[in-house]
Amino acid sequence: MHHGITLSAFLHHEQRLHALSPDLAGVIEDMARAIKQISHLVSLGALGDVLGNANATNIQGEAQKKLDVLANDVILRHHERSGHVAAMASEEMESIYLLPIGEQRGDYLLVFDPLDGSTNIDINLSIGTIFSVLPCPPGVNEPREPDFLQPGRNQLCAGYAVYGQATVLVLTLGRGVLSFTLDRAVGEFVLVQENLHIADEGHEYAINTSNWRYWDPPVRRYIEECHAGAAGPRGKDFNMRWMGAMVADCHRVLSRGGVFLYPHDSRDPQRPGKLRQIYEANPIALLVEQAGGAASTGRASILDVVPQTLHQRIAVIMGARDEVRLIEAYHESCP
Ligand code: AHG
Ligand code: MN
Ligand code: MN
Repeated sequence: MHHGITLSAFLHHEQRLHALSPDLAGVIEDMARAIKQISHLVSLGALGDVLGNANATNIQGEAQKKLDVLANDVILRHHERSGHVAAMASEEMESIYLLPIGEQRGDYLLVFDPLDGSTNIDINLSIGTIFSVLPCPPGVNEPREPDFLQPGRNQLCAGYAVYGQATVLVLTLGRGVLSFTLDRAVGEFVLVQENLHIADEGHEYAINTSNWRYWDPPVRRYIEECHAGAAGPRGKDFNMRWMGAMVADCHRVLSRGGVFLYPHDSRDPQRPGKLRQIYEANPIALLVEQAGGAASTGRASILDVVPQTLHQRIAVIMGARDEVRLIEAYHESCP
């Protein structure tokens, strides 16, 4: 593969060499178009009517930002008439979105977090879009919520965009991880890196330490040992970063290593974690595994967990393989 080829050329290549289905390529092309439009909206900042609250609350009980709603809408509009997907589900919609009657339904289910890191929107910091494609179960023409409750291992494709200094699109079709950058002059995503790889060992971690008092002992132990640095049991110093947007934090992990944690905590006994499994944890977990890293709840591989509900939450510990395995070992020794 050659650096500098466009996303469309890459998808064409995948169809010829790896039998990528034209419809799945179509879903990705539609998503890329939606991302370009969201990237434009984001770039307007205070000059567009895109900042601030939407004066609505989503199913998570979170106040929606205007951009959460706009981005959700942009993605729906780009997929509902192309015949590639049968239904969609999003953080911002309580129920699944079945394509309108009369529209051709494809073989895929699309799930997405239209805007991740919403609290960063109004302060001009990094935000992103996370998405993933699941197979629509065979013979199902009118998918329902249970059809979306598939383990992350079933994902056929996963990716995200980060709207940073540049808009980047990071993608896996299950054969490694590729990174594209949006060339705004021509409106094309251009391949800039393939085979993204996370080093097994890490010395950078990301976690919201304000939740310290709610963490389980294995997570406290791991972070305490990071804090102890070279003088502690790990015998090396660690660095800490927290962007407040999983997509941006995980982009750093995929770009230069380390671990990201949003672990189980005791704040709300009903919640196994803060992040949502189907459209936040699973897509990034697939990308991380495809880049040679590991993605765990602390007690199981994220991709093996079968979600019980559409907006199911899950504990997330992912990145450098050795660090994730160590945190899992701490969980094992502390039932
Ligand atoms: P979203 O903006 O889609 O609701 O997701 C926000 C998530 C995630 O992106 C981030 O890592 C985490 O919330 C930050 O949570 P805290 O504010 O608890 O640190
Ligand atoms: Mn999110
Ligand atoms: Mn979101």
